[in-house]
Amino acid sequence: MPKRPSSVTSVDVTSNPFEPSGSGAPLVEEEFWLPNVTWKQELQKWLDRLGTGQGTRSLAIVGGYGSGKSYILHWLDRVEFPRRKVLTFYFENPEVRFYDLANSLLRRIGRKHFAKLLWELAEPNRKRLQQRSLFAEGFEGYLDTVTKRTSTSELADLQEAIRQSEITADDEIAYCLARLIAETPRKPYFEYRDFVVSRSGSLVAQGQEHRYFAAILKTLRVADNVDRVAFLLDEFEQISLRKRLTTKDSQDYLVTLKRLIDITHQGDLWLVLAMTPDAAEQTARLDPAFWDRCYRFDIPPLTRDDAVRLVEERIERVGDPGGLFESGYMDVLQPTTIASPRRLVKVFHAAISRIMSARKRLSKDELKQIDQDIYSGD
Ligand SMILES: Nc1ncnc2c1ncn2[C@@H]1O[C@H](COP(=O)(O)OP(=O)(O)OP(=O)(O)O)[C@@H](O)[C@H]1O
Ligand SMILES: [Mg+2]
Repeated sequence: MPKRPSSVTSVDVTSNPFEPSGSGAPLVEEEFWLPNVTWKQELQKWLDRLGTGQGTRSLAIVGGYGSGKSYILHWLDRVEFPRRKVLTFYFENPEVRFYDLANSLLRRIGRKHFAKLLWELAEPNRKRLQQRSLFAEGFEGYLDTVTKRTSTSELADLQEAIRQSEITADDEIAYCLARLIAETPRKPYFEYRDFVVSRSGSLVAQGQEHRYFAAILKTLRVADNVDRVAFLLDEFEQISLRKRLTTKDSQDYLVTLKRLIDITHQGDLWLVLAMTPDAAEQTARLDPAFWDRCYRFDIPPLTRDDAVRLVEERIERVGDPGGLFESGYMDVLQPTTIASPRRLVKVFHAAISRIMSARKRLSKDELKQIDQDIYSGD
């Protein structure tokens, strides 16, 4: 844990380590850290189980507003998954339809970058197929040769080279991927219809999207030399709460889940969904089969010790908690404040602001007053 600079005196704080809105990642983006060891152990146990290839591949993080769902996703994203060689994609506001997710993933990677990764995996097979030792140099050279039009035989070679790679043994998917590479010079970005099945020009055949998507994930895994890919979907309640969904939306939503689950069964994808308890109940109702296979972690309310750790760990980055507050300061707060990360962060944001402007330690009464002012009547 980083230590405060040695030159600060006890009521000196170099900056306010609590974000005023009390949401998302902490302002001081140092190591993400869970205040309660039992949460950490439980989450790590689930990840260990997945790592051995047993059991379900999806995890639902369930908690009320401000309970720390996004924080846990960030911890997984930046600390736990990288440690386990899992490539992560964090989606803040996931959409209802499966291809929205896929599109968003592809856009993030970038078409050209993705085409290059794929081409590099297929290239050794292509060379062998064409029995040529000297090719146009590298991916850029290859793109130059296909800039105007790709011949059918060129495309067929590429398809076969992909089929022989680890990416897919499936002819149709290999063809989609070959087109994806060969059309890069003409379309340097992904388009909606690259993924969506439409009447004309779509790369992917009806009902094949998730297989195509699985091949995309496999490419990323092999190219990045990671063991797995994880999707972290935050604010899942936005898509699972029916009041905001039309019937069509909720059908799309179920299809999205099913397809993601199909992919997670192949072992390539881990899925972590953060949602509120009512969204969890809704998901369980809409799709009991999915829900049964999903491991559920309910974020417990913070204990007093968790709350002290959460607050002091942050303060220690900028000052000395003992110099800023009287001993036993946590006990003057309302139990609902102590239990909630968001409320704690907001109260201590205000408290530290006060200390910074008054340049003196905050008494327990003053801290209590701040809590009452922000959360009166609770
Ligand atoms: N374990 C933790 N350690 C330190 N700070 C935390 C922790 N958990 C949450 N926080 C902080 O508490 C606040 C609320 O957390 P967060 O935004 O993750 O809640 P949430 O459950 O995602 O809320 P919402 O339902 O509104 O999306 C944030 O400022 C976050 O940085
Ligand atoms: Mg959140």
